[in-house]
Amino acid sequence: MNPTYLLVAPTHYEVSYAINPWMRPGTWSEDPAAHLAEANASFRALQAALQAAGGTVRVIDGAPGLPDMVFPANAGIVLDRIALVAAFRFPQRQGEEKPFHAAFEALRAEGLLDRVVTLPPGMFQEGAGDCIWDRTRRLAWTGYGPRSSPEAPGLIAETFGIDIVRLELATEQFYHLDTCFCVLPRGEVFFYPRAFTADGLAEIRARVPAELLIEAEDDDAARFCVNAVALESRIVMAQPTERLIGRFAERGYAVTPVDLSSFILSGGGAYCMTLRLDLATR
Ligand code: ARG
Repeated sequence: MNPTYLLVAPTHYEVSYAINPWMRPGTWSEDPAAHLAEANASFRALQAALQAAGGTVRVIDGAPGLPDMVFPANAGIVLDRIALVAAFRFPQRQGEEKPFHAAFEALRAEGLLDRVVTLPPGMFQEGAGDCIWDRTRRLAWTGYGPRSSPEAPGLIAETFGIDIVRLELATEQFYHLDTCFCVLPRGEVFFYPRAFTADGLAEIRARVPAELLIEAEDDDAARFCVNAVALESRIVMAQPTERLIGRFAERGYAVTPVDLSSFILSGGGAYCMTLRLDLATR
């Protein structure tokens, strides 16, 4: 099966509240129609980039009043045809749990998933945004702190029967692991060191040899370039600097830049706009 991504159409997208430091409801409200038009164009460009890189894209509809549904990376974790439905920390996003649960059930009815499971009450876990599968090391890197609960990584390990690494996120800016950590297909880890605690950095450095570590610069992180989707030798990301494109080229990766400015107004980039549906751990 080729890489299959779930995307949510931005029909009902807007920036109407702020639950992370990047969100700009004021900027959005200056010209909502223009921002929405731009969001639609960016969405189509992202979809085309994923397809051109060999991905299959499935698009579902969002729902009115739930603008952040455009970030399905937060909808749940899908591994080995099992979907663990997310539980959101902020009330602004909790309404997404029901429609995403229904979307996973629909995928199950279609034969794409075997099981849809939920978290125990009281635990927050914001999907693949805080759980990144690493196929070369056969483990999941899990983030917690600003959004997902400290108990979530253990539950993930138990649910999927996999090894996990727990990484505490140290800042509000880098509130999901996918904003500051990206595993490339050949095992390189592109990450933003300042987003992690000393313990987290030690975990990363203990597991990834120095020659495979690619440190993001301030600019790369602020442009949401760490929030990237990597397919074999191509990486789809929000607009990078020339310097970053060059650093990836040296390692044999080609970058497809997509203008995602209207989604960065909500604090999200390419990876959070997707959810991989076909990952297998064995
Ligand atoms: N506005 C959304 C939030 O704060 C953005 C989510 C971006 N998703 C991600 N996986 N980083 O929840």
